[in-house]
Amino acid sequence: MNQDNTRIISEGMASRLLPLGYELLPGVSEVYELELAYLESRLLNKEEILRNGAYFTCVDNRYTQHYLMCKGEPIKLPQYSSSRLKSFFQINQFKTGYATHGLFPYRGKFHPQMIKALINIMGLKRGDLILDPMMGSGTTLIEARLMGVRSIGIDTSPFCRFMTQVKLDGLTIPLETIKNAINDFKVIYNCFALKNESKLPEDYSPPSIYNFLLLAYLDSVGYSERSQKKSHLEQFKAIIERYVFVVEKIQQSIIGTENELAEAVAIEGDARCLTMDDHSIDGILFSPPYSFAIDYLKNDSYHLSYLGVDIKQLQEKMVGLHGHTFREKFDLYLKDMKTILAECSRVLRKGKFCTVIIGTNENQLSKILKKPVEKIKGLDEIIIELGNLFGLKLVRKIERQITGIANTMRTESILLLQKD
Ligand SMILES: C[S@@+](CC[C@H](N)C(=O)[O-])C[C@H]1O[C@@H](n2cnc3c(N)ncnc32)[C@H](O)[C@@H]1O
Repeated sequence: MNQDNTRIISEGMASRLLPLGYELLPGVSEVYELELAYLESRLLNKEEILRNGAYFTCVDNRYTQHYLMCKGEPIKLPQYSSSRLKSFFQINQFKTGYATHGLFPYRGKFHPQMIKALINIMGLKRGDLILDPMMGSGTTLIEARLMGVRSIGIDTSPFCRFMTQVKLDGLTIPLETIKNAINDFKVIYNCFALKNESKLPEDYSPPSIYNFLLLAYLDSVGYSERSQKKSHLEQFKAIIERYVFVVEKIQQSIIGTENELAEAVAIEGDARCLTMDDHSIDGILFSPPYSFAIDYLKNDSYHLSYLGVDIKQLQEKMVGLHGHTFREKFDLYLKDMKTILAECSRVLRKGKFCTVIIGTNENQLSKILKKPVEKIKGLDEIIIELGNLFGLKLVRKIERQITGIANTMRTESILLLQKD
């Protein structure tokens, strides 16, 4: 072997891709992640990477905030947990398992680490304003708040607004009070189970604490339906312990920088008629529902009913869930997405980015539209065409493969559209 070959092998790929002194986080293994890491390294200076970068352990031997925020035990798991489960949380430690993102397992949630990188790549800086018009569990808002970027999130579902608010409040909620809740778990459980708030000890009545405990209760309902091992009460206790662990970890990692947390506003509303002024937003980032894959209302029906929501009325406002036949649903979905992109373009400042993350499954669409797969346009292509109508031009499409047999979608596209 000649000397050149030896040098090439010993240098590896990262030294060509990244500047000297930049060390990638463990677990960066997919091409889209490398691409986002590369873009961050090109678009951010060293101080910005240290403060807000998503994919690096250190720069010039200084640890990044992302690394410091995520390091340590990823989650409090019961001792008897399988090694498979433990390694799942370890693998995802820097991708999803940090801050308050794990407080409720919401299906269809973004990878927070990817969102952080996209906020950077879209050029959003401290004090700028980002909008997520379909915020779901609030991933964009939590990331933006931690990064010092102001944010507004909207969702038609009152449960999504509620969940997002709890996750945002979790960054600053009084730790001692929620620690005490672990000892008081029985009395708290009974109040929620019997819907009798008057019996709740006064310490837990401030809205941020009450809602935090209520989310734990609603979460425990899902677990107790899926598992026979523990009673509902035991599940509730385990979940409060886990929630307290999550909150303590993130709060400790932001000690001294609490005043850098940005304002985040979670609103119940409709992405088809935004209340913001024209040209008032510095960046938009969202993932629309893919109607045929996830029925968000069905998943959340218990929680919505608990919160007293009229599910039939809500369904009428949910993109992808109205219409009778699949064909009708699909047509209405396109009509709604057109309105939403028009609204996004209206509120976005010129030159700024609207990033849409969308999954597609041509096989499924082919069945619904009764057309051969080769003639099917993916939802990503459709969004690009619709965006174009309103001056949102595709600058870059990054694809991400979705693994896991239970997923209906195979590919997810990150569409970076820029307003001209
Ligand atoms: C794919 S999920 C978003 C998940 C989110 N990115 C996250 O990280 O959790 C799509 C969301 O769109 C919401 N949605 C549906 N129709 C809507 C509408 N007309 N206006 C606003 N949000 C809507 C759904 O309730 C759902 O939470």
